[in-house]
Amino acid sequence: MQLVKPGKLLINNEWCEAESGKRFDVFNPATEQKLTDVAEGDAKDIDRAVKSARQAFETGPWKNMTARERGRILNRVALLLQKHKTEFAELETLNNGKPISETLNADLPLAIETFEYYAGLADKIHGDTIPVNGNFFNYTLREPTGVVGQIIPWNFPLLMAAWKLGPALATGCTVVLKPAEQTPLTALKLGEILIEAGLPPGVVNIIPGFGPTAGAAIASHNDVDKVAFTGSTEVGKLVMRLAAESNLKRVSLELGGKAPNIVFADSDLSAAVDGAMRGIFFNQGEVCCAGSRLFLEEKIHDEFISMLKTRVEKMIVGNPLDPKTQMGAQVNKEQFNKILNYIEKGKQEGAKVVTGGAPAHKQGYFMKPTILQGVNNQMTVAREEIFGPVVCAIPFKNQDDLRKQANDTIYGLSAGIWTRDIGKAHRLAKEIKAGTVWINCFNCFDAASPFGGFKQSGFGRELGKYALELYTQVKSVWVSLD
Ligand code: NAI
Ligand code: MG
Repeated sequence: MQLVKPGKLLINNEWCEAESGKRFDVFNPATEQKLTDVAEGDAKDIDRAVKSARQAFETGPWKNMTARERGRILNRVALLLQKHKTEFAELETLNNGKPISETLNADLPLAIETFEYYAGLADKIHGDTIPVNGNFFNYTLREPTGVVGQIIPWNFPLLMAAWKLGPALATGCTVVLKPAEQTPLTALKLGEILIEAGLPPGVVNIIPGFGPTAGAAIASHNDVDKVAFTGSTEVGKLVMRLAAESNLKRVSLELGGKAPNIVFADSDLSAAVDGAMRGIFFNQGEVCCAGSRLFLEEKIHDEFISMLKTRVEKMIVGNPLDPKTQMGAQVNKEQFNKILNYIEKGKQEGAKVVTGGAPAHKQGYFMKPTILQGVNNQMTVAREEIFGPVVCAIPFKNQDDLRKQANDTIYGLSAGIWTRDIGKAHRLAKEIKAGTVWINCFNCFDAASPFGGFKQSGFGRELGKYALELYTQVKSVWVSLD
């Protein structure tokens, strides 16, 4: 397989151009150079893809396949991904700018595990028998939701495709997947593997394209039964509106975050420094659950900042393909400028740059890892998602003060707690309004453990058995025993 080849649309297991004939360029954010170009799908292509997915759902071999056979196909996808792991990791790094150490050790293993996990779950999805009043036999069927549209972002392009496809295919749904316009390459390469693994035509259709055209066409299509979206809260609201105004398709949303990462004075400070770094610099901070609000108990504030500064200034930021690189390039100029603007705004509102705060290199969208201190929870940098390697240190006095501030955000995706007092940790874990809480760790993931948001971070849980709820509906069947 050639590493960076031009991309097409995948409809009905055939690679084709967009009806408009349009193509768009895909870049390497580390060099700012064009990597290749890809067919640009729009509403017409989405419509073709939906027709193909509908046919596969209603009449194709997929419908008659047993759950165990579906599981075997998913297992083959995992094995093929494993076989081509290095190529996928390199392609992801080239297109997204993230370090190869992360694509090899996080994105790829997690994507493979996701397919393995749902391969094993496929034949364990079933209904109940329910003791009802009267002379009846009542049971439930858990049926696939149907044709699902999946719109994914650019920060974990392959992994987000895996999170979406794994449970959808395990349950027997068919899919129209739209990768982000910045990073369509690994999703297209995954398409080759899906075909090789034996997925019948029409079961997964992959349409690269832009949000307002291809994405909106999925959300508003009358023959799409469900839309799953990961991206900004702003577009999440739009997707929900389009879903409501069209056919009331089911919606699940995984949106932004502004996670509190809370360090108490009684924690293992050196482990907490590690955790603070993992929380904000992993994937250049382009992570919805990033620990972007670093709450430091007053007593240890200065000591902690100084420990963190020493570590941060040693970070290697540069060529994402170099195995030693710890932080790569931001995904594109738009995100890069957005981060710089937030840092300016932070300074205007009174925050102080401890380290970083500027581009790291002359070429490529590289940012220096940045610490802002003197932030309070009302400042713009503490309220809005920066989506970059910028951590905002906020001091707190005591637990009451902390609790109020930690939950004072429109988001609720994740949180971190660092303390040696386990009672305090568990009490706080219960009080924090977030879908994931990490105690003495951060950014831990497993295909078996659910992930999703409270509040405006969205709703619905991906991963684990919970994701099956997103792709199935329950039918109650009554049988008279008279
Ligand atoms: P976005 O929300 O615009 O894009 C995410 C996906 O939605 C992409 O596939 C895009 O093509 C699609 N999309 C965009 N507009 C659409 C529309 N009108 N209808 C349907 N689909 C549409 O995010 P963007 O602009 O790339 O990034 C902006 C900010 O969003 C980031 O700075 C970050 O704060 C946040 N974000 C959060 C992510 C998360 O993991 N929760 C992922 C990506 C971005
Ligand atoms: Mg956008």
